[in-house]
Amino acid sequence: MDRKKVSLPELLKKKQERKKIVMLTCYDFPMGCFMEEAGIDMVLVGDSLGMVVLGYKNTLPVTMEEMIHHTKAVSRGAKSPLLIGDMPFMAYHKSVEDAIWNAGRFIKEGGADAIKLEGGARVAHIVEAIVKSGIPVMGHIGLTPQSMTQLGGFVAQGKTADAAKVLIDDAKALEDAGAFSILLEAIPEDVGQIITEKASIPIIGIGAGKHCDGQLLILNDLLGIFELFTPKFVKKYANLSEIIVNALKTYKNEVEIGVFPAREHTYNISEGELKILREKL
Ligand code: KIV
Repeated sequence: MDRKKVSLPELLKKKQERKKIVMLTCYDFPMGCFMEEAGIDMVLVGDSLGMVVLGYKNTLPVTMEEMIHHTKAVSRGAKSPLLIGDMPFMAYHKSVEDAIWNAGRFIKEGGADAIKLEGGARVAHIVEAIVKSGIPVMGHIGLTPQSMTQLGGFVAQGKTADAAKVLIDDAKALEDAGAFSILLEAIPEDVGQIITEKASIPIIGIGAGKHCDGQLLILNDLLGIFELFTPKFVKKYANLSEIIVNALKTYKNEVEIGVFPAREHTYNISEGELKILREKL
């Protein structure tokens, strides 16, 4: 059954009706097809791509070309979820014009419906300009991995009253700038609740507790195929690493002992054709 594209008004309605919004990251076509089948509301082609798929040690080296390449692949599979492209480091830092141009590339070339960028009040003018150009923007505050050196590493944010107040002000600045939604990463549950209650746009949490309007997880964490580190907020719903390694080991063993390929995996030539062939040799 073909599903309808999830729209921004629908997401807003979910918030108003207190129905939870379900969001996941995704990086390729086959997983995009699974997103479609599972009826996920929002799919983010995150720059976490760099760490969980491309093997970089953080998200900073990820380029626009890499993001567009993977967004295109996801868009061919995940047709109905609202598809969000993540602006990589330095894609929105040089100038507002540059930021609008790169955001536009996600829509024109990548097949995305919206973009996400990291930062609060300090990027509000960029969010406003991109939104004015007609591209929906999701904000992202709390633990923002592109600024991890300034934040002191991959550590929870907003744990003092002053730091929490900055996050609340950041969320307001993003909403005022026209963001259609805000992602809160790795902040205390109470602060997530305050921001969610104050905002009139959908607030999605990844490590921001249960009161947010929706939840995001990194797909590879959820499936158990990224094992370099696991943040506190991750719940593994499967252990695919084990299943994959077992399958590879079984294949290796069967090739080595001659069990694979078996007759049913093999193409055959008829006795007659084989006889003719032998005569030609
Ligand atoms: O890149 C990404 O997947 C993200 C999440 C960590 C929120 O931005």
